[in-house]
Amino acid sequence: MENLESKRYKEFYSLESRHYHALRYETLYGRLFQSLHHYVLREVLDPLTRQAKVLEVACGTGHITKLFVDMGFRPVACDLTPQMMHQARARCQGLSLFLETDAFQLPFPNGIFDALISTRFLHLFPHEQQQLLFVEMLRVLRPGGLLVVDFDNFFSRWLLAVPFLIYNLIRYHRVAPDSIYNRIKATEKTLNKLGVNETLCYGIGGTHLVVPCWFSQNLAFFLGLKHQRKPLRCLAEQFIICGRKGP
Ligand SMILES: C[S@@+](CC[C@H](N)C(=O)[O-])C[C@H]1O[C@@H](n2cnc3c(N)ncnc32)[C@H](O)[C@@H]1O
Repeated sequence: MENLESKRYKEFYSLESRHYHALRYETLYGRLFQSLHHYVLREVLDPLTRQAKVLEVACGTGHITKLFVDMGFRPVACDLTPQMMHQARARCQGLSLFLETDAFQLPFPNGIFDALISTRFLHLFPHEQQQLLFVEMLRVLRPGGLLVVDFDNFFSRWLLAVPFLIYNLIRYHRVAPDSIYNRIKATEKTLNKLGVNETLCYGIGGTHLVVPCWFSQNLAFFLGLKHQRKPLRCLAEQFIICGRKGP
């Protein structure tokens, strides 16, 4: 049964779906963010065999689902909002299976996926609810399976408070998005406690990179790659954690 919060998000994203993709991935910075995001994901996913059973949770308009398809996977993707998934379905041209479902209650048996990915989703939820989502995601992942999840970066939010404010005012006419920020070490620790091993963390993007973008996308991409790792990782807008479910 759908809870109140899920109902609220479904309503929100039904409307947001009209301009979600254009605003997130078709602006100057959006294109840079997407290329940096895909660069890391390709590196992380490439070692998987193309027969691997892959699940994407909260696929939205499907830019990651399409990346999987382009890499030769045949993913299963799910989301709460049909209007978002409708675009994902069109993007993947029949090469992915889509299911309308709530991530808190995934309609799959235990341990059936070799890999599970979820992007730009967990920042919607307070940390206690993130934990519930991790548990549900890990339930459907097989032991040794790969978990790839991302978060909004607490450090960059505060270190770059001024450019972040300016960016949000210009781009979205708001002070800051309604988002939950995570600390890298604490999040890694939480996942380790839930049995996720061999964790690796990569920084992605940074709204300040819009400045080099005005001059050259190549330069901005080069600088963006430097944000994957320490010391610049603390400035990245988001961070991805990848790890293996323990036995
Ligand atoms: C910010 S969008 C991210 C979409 C996509 N993963 C991306 O990287 O662009 C968040 C997505 O989460 C979905 N969502 C929100 N609550 C959900 C829930 N409880 N279960 C599944 N999907 C949910 C929304 O419908 C929306 O498509």
